[in-house]
Amino acid sequence: MPTLLDLTQQGDVGTISDESQLSSVTLMDPQQLYELWERQNWQAHTIDLSRDAEDWRSLDRDRQRQVAWNLSSFFIGEERVTTQFTGLVAAYETQSEEAFLTTQQVDEARHAQHFNRFYDQVLAYGTTFEERLARAREDLNDAFVTLFDGHLVDACRRLLDDPRDLEAKVDFVTTYHMVIEGTLALTGQRFITDFCERDGLFPGFVEGFKLISRDEHRHVAYGTWFLQQKVRDPALAKRMQDKLVELLPIAASVFVPPGLQLGDSYEILGYSSDEVNEYAFTALSRRLKVIGVGLPAVEAA
Ligand SMILES: [Fe+2]
Ligand SMILES: [Fe+2]
Repeated sequence: MPTLLDLTQQGDVGTISDESQLSSVTLMDPQQLYELWERQNWQAHTIDLSRDAEDWRSLDRDRQRQVAWNLSSFFIGEERVTTQFTGLVAAYETQSEEAFLTTQQVDEARHAQHFNRFYDQVLAYGTTFEERLARAREDLNDAFVTLFDGHLVDACRRLLDDPRDLEAKVDFVTTYHMVIEGTLALTGQRFITDFCERDGLFPGFVEGFKLISRDEHRHVAYGTWFLQQKVRDPALAKRMQDKLVELLPIAASVFVPPGLQLGDSYEILGYSSDEVNEYAFTALSRRLKVIGVGLPAVEAA
């Protein structure tokens, strides 16, 4: 079974899909996804975190460090993807797309609120939202900072400069919806939720995190729809592949715990690096197949 690491170790780029490989899978469009958002609305502030605080105190130092390292990436990530989404909202092409994209931006703000409450009431990181973000940033690795403060910010800025730049929009959606959400977030959510449920920990956090996952699937559905629309243009299909080749080594490094390097074997929260990377690979490759874009490297192997 290939893993995400296989996409980072080979230099070849797979061939771009020809017409016969283009996907005919019918996806939900932005209007349908907007209506789904209305049906799936939820409130972060009504979730009870009192049991979670007791659970946190029951963990030993090492476990607390592992949990904080995993969750801080999400806390900072949710803040980043809220503010750095503005460029895509400005780049809508239809009224339904505009409506859906505004819902995604408010979803990301709500996700950051859920984490802020958890870091306030459970981890007790600082006295303000800003202080908690600053302290959570100390838990991050360099690859995370490169991806979220570098590539994501640059992609947003290019769209703000010219919202009608279709190449910049394809680059943004590939970065945000395919790499950050479809590869990193959905993989992290799967293993962190499994860890909490396996050990009976953090019921309030898990309640919100599952609702966040449901939102993320809706977001990734939009990104898959958008890229499927654009992949018929060979130049745009090549941009998707080039962006994946550029970012997947960085994405794979985001999973690597402090003190280790990409390619090292490790275990985090009881899961092996192979399990995590296999899951991430499968999550990404399934969506690329629906879009109809050839996967870099592995396809050429
Ligand atoms: Fe989110
Ligand atoms: Fe999202």
